[in-house]
Amino acid sequence: MTHFDVVVIGAGAAGMFAAMRAGQRGRRVLLLEHGEEPGRKILISGGGRCNFTNLGCVPERFLSANPHFARSALARYTQHDFIALVRRHRIAFHEKTLGQLFCDGPARQIVRMLLAECEAAGVDLRLAHRVTAITRADRFAIATDHGAFTAESLVLATGGLSIPKMGATGFAHEVARRFGLPVVTPRPALVPLTFAGEDLDVMRPLAGVALPVVARCGRAAFPEAMLFTHRGLSGPAILQVSSYWREGEAITLDLAPGRDPAAALLEAKRARPRAEARGVLAEMLPQRLAQALAARHLPPRMLGETGDAPLRALGALLGGWRLLPAGTEGYAKAEVTLGGVDTAALSQKTMAAKAVPGLFVIGEAVDVTGWLGGHNFQWAWSSGWAAGEAA
Ligand code: FDA
Repeated sequence: MTHFDVVVIGAGAAGMFAAMRAGQRGRRVLLLEHGEEPGRKILISGGGRCNFTNLGCVPERFLSANPHFARSALARYTQHDFIALVRRHRIAFHEKTLGQLFCDGPARQIVRMLLAECEAAGVDLRLAHRVTAITRADRFAIATDHGAFTAESLVLATGGLSIPKMGATGFAHEVARRFGLPVVTPRPALVPLTFAGEDLDVMRPLAGVALPVVARCGRAAFPEAMLFTHRGLSGPAILQVSSYWREGEAITLDLAPGRDPAAALLEAKRARPRAEARGVLAEMLPQRLAQALAARHLPPRMLGETGDAPLRALGALLGGWRLLPAGTEGYAKAEVTLGGVDTAALSQKTMAAKAVPGLFVIGEAVDVTGWLGGHNFQWAWSSGWAAGEAA
């Protein structure tokens, strides 16, 4: 049996950050990871360039049963703190769009930075360690397939259920439940939406077509790019609304943001009566989409011979296409997991379980989910820092 002050389970973004901070405070820290490599999601994130934070990160960009929970941790370790760390390690980065900061080079730079910080802080990282049992008497006892450890503090940082083939598990949720902490039902988020029937018949032949839209679900609205897929819709705008969507609800798409497509079609009819609708539509939309919509919704005539009513109807469709998703592509394709350990059971300042002294839960395992664009990593850094300060 080997004793540590802090055992962190899960060497992902949040776990490495918490271990680093606790080590910097002089705590003896063991970081346990069941995979062969730390930070695997960091490596594949942001298309391999890691969108490590967002300049506009604010608590309003996070979903949780308690929308105020994230406020404290995000305020005490901000995006600017993380940017300063990245600069100290001389990692070049750029803003892509909407405040999203990406490495110029490979995402591995961020993992190397975290490993260097952990090493400097004296963190003992053990890979390929499978935790087999956790018990708590006066301290935590953690049994693994490579021996047993004890610790005053235990930090659960094993993430959510997204991308099971990369080692994602419901481990943190199960352990939390065993210690009496409630778990908000997890569901896939930031995930492509699937469609069925006639909607899919329209979408499938358009697979690969992308365009700027405003996607809405309830009061959430995201002006970003959308992509048609073989199963339905994806792209940033759709991933964002997927976090707000629930089974049976509709989403709406404005396919011509900032324009009045009905007015444009009626004006074109007046000014260019011999023009074809698909040509006019192609001035607002990608050509394949323009062709498909014109073929589906208008008679095969010149604009001058087309009634105003079908032009108005098509214009209304472009401005607010109401669609009922059949479902999502699930955890296999979801960037994050919505839900998780209920924030009501945790201290918003330290991430400690209120009823279990010494137990902490951080990162994606907690019921805090960010928008696309670097917010989820910022939550991992901020919640990891909060726990590392207290564990
Ligand atoms: P994370 O999943 O990173 O780490 C958990 C760790 O625990 C893993 O190393 C896992 O192997 C380990 N583990 C699991 N079960 C265990 C067990 N039983 N025992 C021991 N270890 C165990 N976010 C963002 O802000 N910008 C971006 O660019 C992207 N891009 C992106 C792309 C893709 C494809 C995905 C799937 C996700 C993103 N994300 C993202 C989301 C981001 O990756 C995610 O929010 C964070 O990695 C969450 O950090 P955590 O440390 O909480 O979990």
